[in-house]
Amino acid sequence: MTAMPIQRHIDLTPYNTFAVAAVANYFAPVAGRDDLRAVLDGAGDRSRLILGGGSNILFTRDFDGLVIKNEIRGIRVVREDHDHAWVRVGAGEDWDGFVRWTLRHRLYGLENLASIPGAVGASPIQNIGAYGVEVGDCLEAVETIDLTSGAPRCYQASECALGYRTSIFKQPPRDRYFITAVTFRLSKTARLVTRYADVARAIEGLDPADLDAEMLSDVIRHIRRSKLPDPDELGNAGSFFKNPLVAPDQFAALVAGHGDMPHFSEPDGPVKLAAGWLIEQCGWKGRRVGACGVYPRQALILVNYGGARGEEILALARDIAASVKSRFGIDLETEPRII
Ligand code: FAD
Ligand code: EPU
Repeated sequence: MTAMPIQRHIDLTPYNTFAVAAVANYFAPVAGRDDLRAVLDGAGDRSRLILGGGSNILFTRDFDGLVIKNEIRGIRVVREDHDHAWVRVGAGEDWDGFVRWTLRHRLYGLENLASIPGAVGASPIQNIGAYGVEVGDCLEAVETIDLTSGAPRCYQASECALGYRTSIFKQPPRDRYFITAVTFRLSKTARLVTRYADVARAIEGLDPADLDAEMLSDVIRHIRRSKLPDPDELGNAGSFFKNPLVAPDQFAALVAGHGDMPHFSEPDGPVKLAAGWLIEQCGWKGRRVGACGVYPRQALILVNYGGARGEEILALARDIAASVKSRFGIDLETEPRII
């Protein structure tokens, strides 16, 4: 077999939704396991970075090593019973395209995750979530190739250590396991999750019998359009910080001074605070600093107004985190990968 051509000096601006400029010294699109093997044979011991849709990454510098762009396609029902279908999806499939596919095939569970940018292969990495659902709710298995040995390894969902915006794939050693396919267990009967405040508000007054999964995903698309910037129009990577989790006693002290602080508590567990609210309270919402800024309709989203460098966006993020720390004593954790 002929080795895949590895491209040189590729501008990554079109490959990241922040649309920041960075150059990959080496770059290789990979459409299947054979491509991957050939690329690895030609790659030597260069450092590697795996890229899907580039919607959860911030480049603050050029990447000297090899960027492997996942383009593995294919959607296939691999097993079925009376209640469920198991669907195996190539990691390079577009996430939202797959969500639309599930609805067309009357398979349910992912409707609340409509319109999240990126590729299917990245979905388990931070256990993508929105509007009361996480991908872990429907995840069956994640197929990977160990890039150091070339060996395949399949992780069952229970082995992935899924949590709020985390999994084993987000921990070191990153870029060792290349996710090639993900299998989802989808339901043939829709069980609609409508408890998230924005969703409940949007469907208020509607007879629940009149709501179906397609309508719910349309409602969610509409909510998202109203508060999140479209990366094709304004560079961004979604939420820049995770919502912080604090211990109940720390929360009690915080809420004593800020009775209107939005929060989501689990019984006996930590309390999740809204980072967007904390950032807004510190006066950042809508502020512009040079070519970047804080989105006027959602303070958790940093945007590139055009030509911002990754370092500028990171410097803004650090200033925001410092003011939240100084005002509330809370450390914000970055959500996107910083390179
Ligand atoms: P990339 O940005 O390409 O990669 C992210 C990380 O995963 C990198 O570390 C990369 O090396 C690694 N990676 C990617 N593919 C592979 C692979 N095949 N194998 C191994 N490692 C890999 N996220 C949510 O959870 N909920 C939301 O509601 C949400 N809304 C968003 C809205 C907007 C407007 C934007 C821009 C982003 C949003 N995100 C959201 C974040 C983002 O869409 C998700 O994290 C998405 O899963 C990232 O996919 P990607 O393919 O773009 O990943
Ligand atoms: N809020 C403010 N000001 C703001 C933004 C938010 O006060 O500028 C308050 C809202 O009023 C609300 C609370 O914060 O009370 C939560 O806001 P919202 O519903 O907009 O959600 P979020 O917590 O800011 C999270 C996820 C999103 C996901 C939505 C919907 C994280 C880090 N972010 O945002 O995910 O789409 O909930 O479930 O958990 C992403 O991860 O990239 C992402 C966009």
